[in-house]
Amino acid sequence: MQTVQTIAHLRSTVDQWRARRERVAFVPTMGNLHDGHLQLVKRASRAADRVVVSIFVNPMQFGHQEDLESYPRTLKQDSLILAENSVHLLFVPQVNEMYPHGTDHTVRVKVPDLADILCGVFRPGHFTGVATVVAKLFNAVRPHVAVFGEKDYQQLLVVRRVVDDLCMPIEIIGVNTVRDADGLALSSRNIYLTPEERGFAPILYQTLQWLGGQMVGGVRDYDSLTARGNILLQESGFRPDYVVIRRAEDLGVPQAIDSHLIILAAAWLGHTRLIDNFVVTLKD
Ligand code: PAJ
Repeated sequence: MQTVQTIAHLRSTVDQWRARRERVAFVPTMGNLHDGHLQLVKRASRAADRVVVSIFVNPMQFGHQEDLESYPRTLKQDSLILAENSVHLLFVPQVNEMYPHGTDHTVRVKVPDLADILCGVFRPGHFTGVATVVAKLFNAVRPHVAVFGEKDYQQLLVVRRVVDDLCMPIEIIGVNTVRDADGLALSSRNIYLTPEERGFAPILYQTLQWLGGQMVGGVRDYDSLTARGNILLQESGFRPDYVVIRRAEDLGVPQAIDSHLIILAAAWLGHTRLIDNFVVTLKD
């Protein structure tokens, strides 16, 4: 596995592959890799001849009060894991390589509507940071395919929107959420949980599953249902930012005819913010 820090080095390798008509798949990450990331890498290997992974803790997507400084950085270990998983190229840019004019002065990619709801309300500017860095990484790597996790479902839709609207010839593949045995979605931020909080954490997914069961069982009053979900989480020690039921396709508010739905939640457990979702397909 080759490791490069500059866009120029990255390009010279990818250009050689493209000249040989090899297909290139890309998995952007912020590092501290876990099995969720590795499933994306495996999916990327099946989709293309060459796999590029980036590790870049993107300052632009962190709010001022957020965990940019403390975000876990484990490059040595990540690098070994990626080499063992048949990654061809690891791109680890410094901040000034990605933002030569600084993060406050960079050209930015703003996604209307989709970026201003749900997590966008509680993390203002977050999705502009994500959309901007992903667009820049796409232009630097020039992949044929890019792979993202469904755990960050709103992010996945934001990225699809960027690719559509900016006419980028990149196929976006979504991968199912990888979970621990007790159902907790894997996340780099789970290490912030105390042992006691870790014990409660699976209740988030259990609550989403319970709500999904109610919907499949015929409950259609989504406002009451999500209010119940909120209370259940609070009773278990969470501080929910939101629990909502939306259309899976575009996160719009569902109408009676919509059957492909998703329950999304974000909730704090102590100092850790967890997000998760559960897709529900209703039969008429
Ligand atoms: P990061 O949190 O490192 O996640 C990188 C990718 O791994 C994302 O596509 C995310 O959805 C996916 N992922 C994380 N946990 C997962 C799980 N349990 N199962 C399946 N996939 C999972 O998301 C980011 O980084 C950044 O916002 C990024 C896209 C790299 C832009 O900076």
